[in-house]
Amino acid sequence: MTTPDRHDFPPGFAWGCSTSSYQIEGAAREGGKGESIWDRFCQRPGAIRDGSSGATACDHYHRWPEDLDLAQGLGVDAYRFSIAWPRIFPDGVGERPSAEGLAFYSRLVDGMLTRGLQPWATLYHWDLPQALQERGGWLNRDTMAAFADYAHAVAHHLGDRVKHWITHNEPWCTAFLGHHEGVHAPGLRDFRAALQVCHHLLVSHGDAVAAVRAAAPGAQAGITLSLHPIRAASAGPADQAAAQRHDGLRNRWFLDPLHGRGYPADVLAALGDDAPRVEAGDLARIATPCDFLGVNYYFPETIADAPGGEGIATRVVPTPGAPLTAFGWPIVPEGMTELLTRVQRDYRPAAVYLTENGACFDDVPDADGFVQDDARQRFLAAHFAAALRAVRAGVPLKGYFVWSLLDNFEWAEGYTRRFGLTHVDYATQRRRLKASGEWFRHFLRAESPAP
Ligand code: FCB
Repeated sequence: MTTPDRHDFPPGFAWGCSTSSYQIEGAAREGGKGESIWDRFCQRPGAIRDGSSGATACDHYHRWPEDLDLAQGLGVDAYRFSIAWPRIFPDGVGERPSAEGLAFYSRLVDGMLTRGLQPWATLYHWDLPQALQERGGWLNRDTMAAFADYAHAVAHHLGDRVKHWITHNEPWCTAFLGHHEGVHAPGLRDFRAALQVCHHLLVSHGDAVAAVRAAAPGAQAGITLSLHPIRAASAGPADQAAAQRHDGLRNRWFLDPLHGRGYPADVLAALGDDAPRVEAGDLARIATPCDFLGVNYYFPETIADAPGGEGIATRVVPTPGAPLTAFGWPIVPEGMTELLTRVQRDYRPAAVYLTENGACFDDVPDADGFVQDDARQRFLAAHFAAALRAVRAGVPLKGYFVWSLLDNFEWAEGYTRRFGLTHVDYATQRRRLKASGEWFRHFLRAESPAP
């Protein structure tokens, strides 16, 4: 494989890097911020692998100028960040948004613009105000209205400068990791509840798109999904059917209703009584037209039938021949091309952005604190090439955001998983670009080839 050159990509292709509020900000009790469900969940014994929390994280709340300098130093065009809802409405709802919370993001956005970074704001990257959770969280339809109000307030204040808005980040994770598997906040284990939450997230996405458009005319709005190419473990009919079911709940369950097709009939049939309650008008709200689709691609899944396979159950098995990251995720760059071309073939979105892609490896700083992470560099080069193949196959891919600018708090894994282009020494908060970051900077700075 030859490493692509940035000039191989279409003019205007946006290169960026991503972060999220709870994973980097810290300052959990500062700036008038209310408690979030992640602040609460991290206190639960055993919930986080290293017993940590995002209370301090990368201390980005105080160190953001240095972090934006790092992004600028990389030479990225765009920076994707998320807004912590409890900084804007500490109790989730209210007459007026917090001036202090808005001022923080206003400074941050100005800091991006003065550094030539295009701000991409995600409204919900999982840190729901705990006060709303007390009232049922995403199971309660009132949370949808609260989300639209919050979206409107933020877009009203930042929409003169922020032109790209993402409503939800990976609703699959919020719904199923948070409400079925119980490994993410709020830590419930109830499949039926997870499906209802999922439905409310999707409806609230459509409402938030409308709210952003009303508050910030001309803004572009979309959603970010975590999508996986799905392969069957064998050609046998049971595994084939399992792969189809798995694709149904992982991918089509989101893509179909967002594109105006309602929920997929085969998945509804498999769910039976577990299917969510859908009220009149909900499907039209979910299908509110978007300007772009955000795709987070990390890995494909190989699926086998679950023993006694009934209903929706399936089993994820190892992907043959794929090396693994330190997280155990299979490294399959061609899965990215496969996924993007499939989305294009089946749904024809107006524009697609890879809003996250990256990898976790066991980084070992040398005596001088430098991380020679060749594996991450190879990973990125191979995935950039896969993205280019998708572009050449006709996918309207307009940008690519690497996860992540910084090592950060990796949810249930705490600080044990590092995804950054920049190493963070959590004891000193010292940042140092890794070799992969230097490579990315070199890629971005490439001179145009001579005509
Ligand atoms: C994604 C999340 C992001 C980060 C990466 C590794 O699922 O959106 O916050 O944790 O995985």
